[in-house]
Amino acid sequence: MGGDRHRLAADGAIHVVAGVLSDARGRILLARRTAGRDLAGAWEFPGGKVEPGETPLQALDRELHEELGIRIDRAEPLIAVPQAYPDKRIVLDVYRVGSFTGKAQGLEKQALAWAPPDKLATYPMPPADRPVVAALTQASLCL
Ligand code: C5P
Repeated sequence: MGGDRHRLAADGAIHVVAGVLSDARGRILLARRTAGRDLAGAWEFPGGKVEPGETPLQALDRELHEELGIRIDRAEPLIAVPQAYPDKRIVLDVYRVGSFTGKAQGLEKQALAWAPPDKLATYPMPPADRPVVAALTQASLCL
């Protein structure tokens, strides 16, 4: 979405936002990257690139609305992960979505999975998403 109009951080890294959403049973939403995209088949925390003029939360709300059909009511920053991929550098800016409206659906034909927190580590993920699992594990230990 949005072609190449993504936002570059001061150091040239692409600013990407992602959301951690849970259901009433505490399971966490993962979306599978579709064929033809980079990292196809990997399970990611859903999100995408921040466009010029957007705040990270506006970008996250737009991406989750486009991809899943939901709207964010409340979200808090969880972790920001700098990651070098072969062709680019990104910063994955991850928010814990405390409350959202709507039922998540794979509107871009992507598979969705609601994963129990202790099973997250078993899903193949983009490298930037791995530290998010560690941060979530850490956060739940601190509850
Ligand atoms: O989804 P999109 O292709 O716009 O994401 C931009 C870049 O951020 C891609 O390289 C993608 O692999 C990466 N990304 C990621 N983890 C996510 C979302 C996106 O590593 N949860």
